[in-house]
Amino acid sequence: MKTLIITGGAGFIGSHVVRLFVNKYPEYRIINLDKLTYAGNLANLKDIEDKPNYKFVKMDICDFDAFYKLMQDEKVTGIIHLAAESHVDRSIKDPFTFAQTNVMGTLSLLQAAKLYWESLPEKYEGKRFYHISTDEVYGALEMTHPEGIPAPFTTKASTASHTVGGGTSAAHPAYGEKFFTEDLKYQPHSPYSASKASSDHFVRAFHDTYGLPTIVTNCSNNYGPYQFPEKLIPLFINNIRHRKPLPVYGKGENVRDWLYVEDHARAIDVIFHNGKIAETYNIGGFNEWKNIDIIKVVIQTVDRLLGRVKLETSETGETIETYPDMDLITYVTDRAGHDLRYAIDSRKLQRELGWEPSLQFEEGIERTVRWYLDNEAWMDNVTSGDYQKYYENMYANR
Ligand code: NAD
Ligand code: TYD
Repeated sequence: MKTLIITGGAGFIGSHVVRLFVNKYPEYRIINLDKLTYAGNLANLKDIEDKPNYKFVKMDICDFDAFYKLMQDEKVTGIIHLAAESHVDRSIKDPFTFAQTNVMGTLSLLQAAKLYWESLPEKYEGKRFYHISTDEVYGALEMTHPEGIPAPFTTKASTASHTVGGGTSAAHPAYGEKFFTEDLKYQPHSPYSASKASSDHFVRAFHDTYGLPTIVTNCSNNYGPYQFPEKLIPLFINNIRHRKPLPVYGKGENVRDWLYVEDHARAIDVIFHNGKIAETYNIGGFNEWKNIDIIKVVIQTVDRLLGRVKLETSETGETIETYPDMDLITYVTDRAGHDLRYAIDSRKLQRELGWEPSLQFEEGIERTVRWYLDNEAWMDNVTSGDYQKYYENMYANR
């Protein structure tokens, strides 16, 4: 029987991974291990918390002794490691916490897994340590084509409706000729990406030195339900809802490659089961957007769903739709060390394991905005901090 620990399962991506594994594999035992920091919220898993194959354990990944004991007690066969400090802006303010959790926490899990699995008669057979990382470790790509050029690859989910230079492109745009491939040198710029890069190196070192059966994946920006509203898309949806300013860093020209979170969870499932030990796979959305373009799509979608769109008559007598909340866009001082462009080449995963995004971006963003508007209570709860007070009380004496 497989007993898996998913770390960071109460966070944004982790909760989607836990949900997928608990529902899809009733024969596995799934242990969600999470410290419940400000970013961890058990309300993300209400729909599966009573399933017999699910268990929650509140633990810090830096607590080596507790984790080693848990592995022994539960006879753990696999680890999917998502727990991390994950927000670049926070890492700029407080780099120590990022080094502690992302580097030392990962090292603590690796060492415990190594010692426990090596103590078993079958040792590493049937075992797997899967580390989830970010494309940000590769640093920033140049934007050689700010006007956009057709991307050299497409998927079933690719759309061409994304506007480039005022017109509509024939194929999904790219804003440069280079992409992140798995063999690229690591060049992290933020304390967050530096800490993730360091943890990736430790994971590979544990394979190369001790033979630990590891896999690493580096994924692009995720979006979707249950994302903590300090990240661009949920923050802006919430601000638009309350008609609060939308702080656009710099000129809003930075490019990110966006992937719907459930597609990431599906990739993790495929790679956990079929990926090759010691390999790295890049996971991307084949979906580059300038921040300012994505922000406009988010405003249009929120305004449409909230019935705020206004109809006006143009000088030529045509009826045109206007979006009043475009006025909320506020350009602010740029983020320090702000990476210009991220763009993943995910063709290795597409070719070798048959994964590609399933959801078109237009559909994904519509679903996402709708979810946040339909789940105001979730949003109000996490932004008010009530849920953290609840955890403080609930776990005060444990
Ligand atoms: P998140 O911040 O939403 O969730 C992180 C989770 O980890 C939370 O539940 C938190 O309570 C938990 N955690 C933090 N410190 C812990 C500790 N010391 N011990 C135990 N649990 C702890 O993050 P996310 O966006 O879901 O990201 C998950 C993983 O995916 C991270 O490793 C991140 O680097 C990676 N990633 C994220 C993105 C993205 O766009 N969000 C993209 C690529 C990779
Ligand atoms: P973010 O969601 O923080 O993800 P990451 O920094 O890991 O890519 O930010 C996405 C992009 O949006 C990034 O280029 C920074 C920008 N951004 C803003 O312009 N304003 C904001 O308030 C935030 C949170 C982000």
